[in-house]
Amino acid sequence: MSDQFEQVTLIEHPVINRDLTVLRDVSTNTADFRSALKRIAVILAYHSLKELPLKSFDIQTPIEKTTGYDIDQDIIVVPILRAGLGLSDAILQFIPDAKVGHLGMYRDETTHEPVDYYSNIPKGVEDAIVLVVDPMLATGGSADDALSFLKKQGAQHLRFISLICAPEGLQRLEEKHPDVYTITAAIDDRLNDDAFIVPGLGDAGDRYFGTT
Ligand code: PRP
Repeated sequence: MSDQFEQVTLIEHPVINRDLTVLRDVSTNTADFRSALKRIAVILAYHSLKELPLKSFDIQTPIEKTTGYDIDQDIIVVPILRAGLGLSDAILQFIPDAKVGHLGMYRDETTHEPVDYYSNIPKGVEDAIVLVVDPMLATGGSADDALSFLKKQGAQHLRFISLICAPEGLQRLEEKHPDVYTITAAIDDRLNDDAFIVPGLGDAGDRYFGTT
């Protein structure tokens, strides 16, 4: 749990400190940015899956019978396009049979409001654990819209996984979605007048895909 926000888990790890520095540094090139984001994504994925329900059953080892385990609930990963794609593969490494939904939205540069352009959500959201992933939570508008949309589709077990959050965005999620836990690697200071996270890392999507 973070000190400021009850429903937020702030993951601390030396690799995160080092790799966040790589991500924040304006001189980092696309290849290094991708590598650092992928390494942090694995740590975030590991922590976000820690409390999955398990079912047990009997198995036979080459030596004797013992108890085996499998995950007892379907997992659906929902990256918010584009930048969310940088986090979703890490979860699929741990849960190779997870279904993947996509929500396309970009933030209007003037109004800072999210604009939806695509959605494709697999069947079964009602009963699944739905992990919404996006490296940046700034105003929280995109995450708020994504979570509201998924709730309308029937999702009941939602978590939000992010790399860097602004307090303003976390406040919004706490007010609008008190049932949704957030896992993040950093809670930054604030938003600037352009609604960018400060100190932040710029635009994660542009830096990850090399579109700046
Ligand atoms: C960024 C980011 C989030 C959103 C965060 O996406 O990846 O989706 O903005 O801002 P918010 O919390 O104020 O809504 P962007 O619009 O840059 O799209 P992209 O991922 O395609 O680059």
